[in-house]
Amino acid sequence: MKVLITAGPTREPLDPVRYLSNRSSGKMGYALAAAFAEAGHHVLLVSGPTDLDVPPGIDFVPVETALEMFEAVGRHLFRMDAAVFAAAVADYRPASAPDQKIKKSGESMTIELIRNPDILGSARSKMNFTGTLVGFAAETENLEEHARGKLVRKQCDLIIGNDVSKPGIGFESDRNELLLVYPNHSEAIPEDEKHHLSHRLVREIEVLAATRKG
Ligand code: CTP
Ligand code: CA
Repeated sequence: MKVLITAGPTREPLDPVRYLSNRSSGKMGYALAAAFAEAGHHVLLVSGPTDLDVPPGIDFVPVETALEMFEAVGRHLFRMDAAVFAAAVADYRPASAPDQKIKKSGESMTIELIRNPDILGSARSKMNFTGTLVGFAAETENLEEHARGKLVRKQCDLIIGNDVSKPGIGFESDRNELLLVYPNHSEAIPEDEKHHLSHRLVREIEVLAATRKG
């Protein structure tokens, strides 16, 4: 299969020296990219800034902002058999980013933010993607309910839910615990290394893709 994977955080500039971002390490997306490549698939990794090395044998498109990620995905998605959106995309970006550094003045400041495009949510509706579509849902409460909502809204074949409020797993960790949410059922995957979980996820997505093709 040809598989597109998004990973990492995005950085939304406030001015030339500052940005808004989040705590995604990119580890889950990179582990998935490596696992797909090891299983013999062609991988295109579209990634925001991380400290990770790009796994061998993978096509790599580095991006910074959500808009850049949206554009890169839009350019490549049409020729993919499957896509897994593991990136922690910033939901909002500063409404303006002046060319010069913002100087401090006054005791408080307000930053206006505007919504970024939903990349996963655009895959079917705007990019007309017909391959196997997988998203993540990072939640701090009501994991199954929120993940299922995203599955339906974004027209995915699978949402991989993780509870980011649990200590020791998730964002910056090498470990994770997942809830696989399919249209007709859910399945909990106990805590394990992201590396092991990735191989399991590759098998799940291979089956989904085979079923989709019929
Ligand atoms: N996603 C995306 N583009 C965005 C926001 C999210 O592609 N602008 C993708 C993520 O990569 C993930 C899925 O959508 O696969 C769910 O991301 P999440 O942040 O959990 O959901 P949101 O739809 O942004 O909802 P909220 O943050 O309000 O829970
Ligand atoms: Ca979000």
